[in-house]
Amino acid sequence: MIEQLEELRARALEELGRIDDLTRIEEWRVSYLGRRSELNQILRGMGTLTPSDRRAVGQIANDVKSVLEGESAARRAQIETMLRQAEIDREHVDVTLPPRPMRLGQWHPLTMATRDIISAFRTLGYDIVEGPEVEWEKYNFEMLNIPAEHPARDVWDTFYVKTSDGASPGKMLLRTHTSPMQVRVMERRRPPIRVVVPGRAYRYEATDATHESEFYQIEGLAVDEHLTFADLKGTLTAFAHAIFGPERRTRFRVDFFPFVEPGAEMAIDCHVCRGAGCRLCKSSGWIEIMGAGMVHPKVLEGVGYDSASYSGFAFGMGPERVAMLKYGIDDIRLFKNNDLRFLRQFAQ
Ligand code: FA5
Repeated sequence: MIEQLEELRARALEELGRIDDLTRIEEWRVSYLGRRSELNQILRGMGTLTPSDRRAVGQIANDVKSVLEGESAARRAQIETMLRQAEIDREHVDVTLPPRPMRLGQWHPLTMATRDIISAFRTLGYDIVEGPEVEWEKYNFEMLNIPAEHPARDVWDTFYVKTSDGASPGKMLLRTHTSPMQVRVMERRRPPIRVVVPGRAYRYEATDATHESEFYQIEGLAVDEHLTFADLKGTLTAFAHAIFGPERRTRFRVDFFPFVEPGAEMAIDCHVCRGAGCRLCKSSGWIEIMGAGMVHPKVLEGVGYDSASYSGFAFGMGPERVAMLKYGIDDIRLFKNNDLRFLRQFAQ
């Protein structure tokens, strides 16, 4: 029985030494020190021994029990310390590490282009004005010298808006350009006038790499005594140099818009081929950036200005087009896709 006890002690201690978690140590305790443990079974068999053997065996059994209890308590404490240390190591914060970079918001490329354009005109003394996107047909067309049935209306495919009553003084539409603001500004102010009007415009058009049905325009209008086409050219050339660089060349060619006379399109030399001709500029060496012209006398007269005393020039450009040229973007649809890989390229 004594050998049995010693063998049990050796085995229990050997097993205990290999245990490294609290669940298994509890299982060990049940199996070696619990009510149904081997030790208790041995002790139960002591009834068959002589009193002196019983005393000797009893003493060894008590020794074994107290050794096992003491060792298991020590092992349990060791394991608890190990686990606590592991937890501390896991949660350790190295306060000397540099922080993770914080992602800040940034301007949308179109907003940046719009702000650049506006600030170029601000330095030339222009005010910023905004106006309605849902507009009367009268302002979008008629007062701009585009009467009903005029073929020029086909150029601006229009979204009409249903008005709820029949008493409205005309049809309403989503403005097809920002030019109606020329009329609204002239109705409200007297010359000298110098304004730029950023805002949305809408056309019933199929979307492609250079066209959207909802897009932005920036309109410009200057009215004063003695303004000439030379003022228009000088102003727009100063603008192009501010936005695209002082080395860029500009070109003005005749174009037709019913509300200006003469009308023009302004182009800058192609930034890819510098005028030599390439795929981007369709071999012309020039890229058109806006429509412009001297305000038509009929438009001036329409708002009650004396066209003999006052003259003006107007222009209208797409900031998407300007941003595409400035940043080398080849598809207008990228602006509204909300693809962060595209947008993050413009972080400043
Ligand atoms: C006009 O809208 C005239 N109102 C501009 C003007 C103003 C002329 C004052 C004379 C005096 P146009 O249709 O060309 O013109 O449009 C002007 C610019 O708006 C274009 O150069 C282009 O950059 C932009 N634009 C026109 N249609 C779209 C479209 N569907 N998607 C994106 N941009 C467009």
